[in-house]
Amino acid sequence: VGAENAEYLISKIRTIPGFPKEGILFRDFMPVLADARAFGVLLDALEAALPVDPNDFDAVAGLEARGFLFGPALAARLGKGFIAVRKAGKLPPETVSQHYDLEYGQAAVEIETSAVHEGERVLIVDDLIATGGTANAASALIEKCGGKVSGFSFVMELTGIDGMKSLQGYPASSLITMP
Ligand code: PRP
Ligand code: ADE
Repeated sequence: VGAENAEYLISKIRTIPGFPKEGILFRDFMPVLADARAFGVLLDALEAALPVDPNDFDAVAGLEARGFLFGPALAARLGKGFIAVRKAGKLPPETVSQHYDLEYGQAAVEIETSAVHEGERVLIVDDLIATGGTANAASALIEKCGGKVSGFSFVMELTGIDGMKSLQGYPASSLITMP
């Protein structure tokens, strides 16, 4: 996407110390979406940095809420369908659930069992990986439903937490690395 565009994208990440808890450096990518140029660069960069060839996955899964903000746009660009991984209690049955820990709390995510086809190869996308708890929970859900995780695509990767290492060797990419 070019150095100038990459710099521009990074300039749109906002950092809020102490949110939502003391000691957390919150990395906010909403300003990227608010800016037409930055959002275009984001989608170009995600496409260019895919961790696997687009022929090697069938669908894109995004994590509520921030993975919903660009996952469907990326899926549409790639000619793939989108699978919603939601926070617990939002989807009608049949669903499968997975509890997990994340950098600043605990939660559970769910997927509709019928949303993933047997043997379907899925790319999981999210804005950020910190501990990897959320990404691993999504991966477990896809596999519980008979799907196969092809890889992970993130906008940001936080260093010093080893989230990327927790992904157990699955192909993964991130555009921006920050503490
Ligand atoms: C954030 C972020 C990732 C997750 C990463 O979501 O969007 O999904 O945390 O943290 P982890 O690697 O430690 O699991 P959050 O749960 O805050 O929800 P939101 O997208 O609804 O804001
Ligand atoms: N999710 C988990 N850790 C985060 C952080 N530091 N900033 C934004 N989202 C997060």
